[in-house]
Amino acid sequence: MNNRSTPPKILVVEDSTANAKLLCQVLQRGGMQVVSAHNGESAIQEVEASLPDLILLDVLLPGMDGFELCQKWKSQPRTQDIPIIFMTALTDNQDKIKGLKLGAVDYVTKPFHQEEVLARVRLHLQLSHLTKTLEKQNQKLSKEVQERKAAEKRLQNLTQTLEERVSNRTQELQNTLDELQTAQVQLVQREKLSTLGQLVAGVAHEINNPVGFVVGNIKYLEEYHNDLLEHLKLYQKHYSEPPDEIQEHKEEIDLDYLVEDIPNILESLKVGMERIRKISLSLRNFSRADDTSRMFVDIHEGLESTLLILKHRLKAKGTFPGIQVEKEYGNLPQVCCYPGQLNQVFTNILANAVDALSEEVEAKQDNLNKKPTITIQTGVGTLSESEVKVPCVTIRIVDNGPGMPEEVQKHLFDPMFTTKPIGKGTGLGMSISHQIVTQKHQGRLRFYSTPGEGTEFIIEVPIQGQDDAAAS
Ligand SMILES: Nc1ncnc2c1ncn2[C@@H]1O[C@H](COP(=O)(O)OP(=O)(O)OP(=O)(O)O)[C@@H](O)[C@H]1O
Ligand SMILES: [Mg+2]
Repeated sequence: MNNRSTPPKILVVEDSTANAKLLCQVLQRGGMQVVSAHNGESAIQEVEASLPDLILLDVLLPGMDGFELCQKWKSQPRTQDIPIIFMTALTDNQDKIKGLKLGAVDYVTKPFHQEEVLARVRLHLQLSHLTKTLEKQNQKLSKEVQERKAAEKRLQNLTQTLEERVSNRTQELQNTLDELQTAQVQLVQREKLSTLGQLVAGVAHEINNPVGFVVGNIKYLEEYHNDLLEHLKLYQKHYSEPPDEIQEHKEEIDLDYLVEDIPNILESLKVGMERIRKISLSLRNFSRADDTSRMFVDIHEGLESTLLILKHRLKAKGTFPGIQVEKEYGNLPQVCCYPGQLNQVFTNILANAVDALSEEVEAKQDNLNKKPTITIQTGVGTLSESEVKVPCVTIRIVDNGPGMPEEVQKHLFDPMFTTKPIGKGTGLGMSISHQIVTQKHQGRLRFYSTPGEGTEFIIEVPIQGQDDAAAS
């Protein structure tokens, strides 16, 4: 039986008073509330007044028959779900089928079997109740599904927003990190440049003074020597037979050779001094304190100064065969640049080439079948910046060393990237050089490297000097 607190309400539509009465008794005994109607019209009124839970409907009625009534109720949303059970004559199969087709849930046959009627009514009440409960649950479920979908959508949006925020933040952090690294590299670069520059300038200055008075005094020495020689000749002329002691001393010191050799010594002193003077000039050239202003300079001078500083590392020593430097200098105009900084670039690249060649010699020992060589080529070219063609000088520094594997090439310009042992390389050389060429001079720094064959760096610097807005 259904489990509602109020008894279920059954409408009995039956024109036979006797039948109606009998049904009412049976149903009331079954705990149901019963209303009855004797024809179609009163049945419609009853339903309108208050919806029954189930209708027992006779087929044959005066006026509107059972089928019509059924059709009417089934066509209205308010009444379409009320279960209807037809009451038909036992033999009338056509009526049974028609009733079911019209939407009735069941039929009972006359004459009534009381228990059967009660059982069927109960069954259908329960079915209808279950259907309603199911519908309600369905509605609740679909509402829940909708809510869940909405929540999922909200979650999705939230995740997306969150992801966007995370990626924006990551990008911001990456930018800050990049800026920080650039600033760091610039700092180190200045530090490196100024320390090296100061040291070199100091040494050059210190050398200059003594060189100055040695050079200054050599000419007096030469003069005095000539005077003394003149004087000696006079002695020899007037005292052609000197005492033994003088004669012996003359032989002991090999006076003739001495007289002959002193001019040579003086000459080599002069050459040596001239060389020292040139070195000191190169050092000053190399260390120019020109960080703040550009000037027109001869790039070859910078290269020569750099080579001079690295000279001790190029020479053959012990088992080291030395490094051959081949220069193929072109005709270059003066270039507007920061010479001290460009020299720093030449030093970094040349020092790397020397390191690479020396390491290879060390690793291969006697099996090296080539002469370690660095080639420096210079020339004039153009740098194309979008549509504009900018005249530039090109400096190619090529070594026939071990070259670089792909992994090293990928990170060559990264600050702090080094393959050298701790304490040997800072990994800043190339990143500083890259900055100096591209940012300070608006030029270009490229390289090509083949493992086992060597490495080539190409420096391109605009001749007239470009604005370096990006630089400090
Ligand atoms: N000519 C070259 N041949 C082979 N490898 C090279 C050459 N030039 C650079 N490299 C590689 O690139 C790396 C980075 O060079 P970079 O000059 O930036 O740093 P570093 O020489 O290691 O240290 P430092 O800051 O003292 O110069 C080197 O460690 C080396 O592995
Ligand atoms: Mg280096």
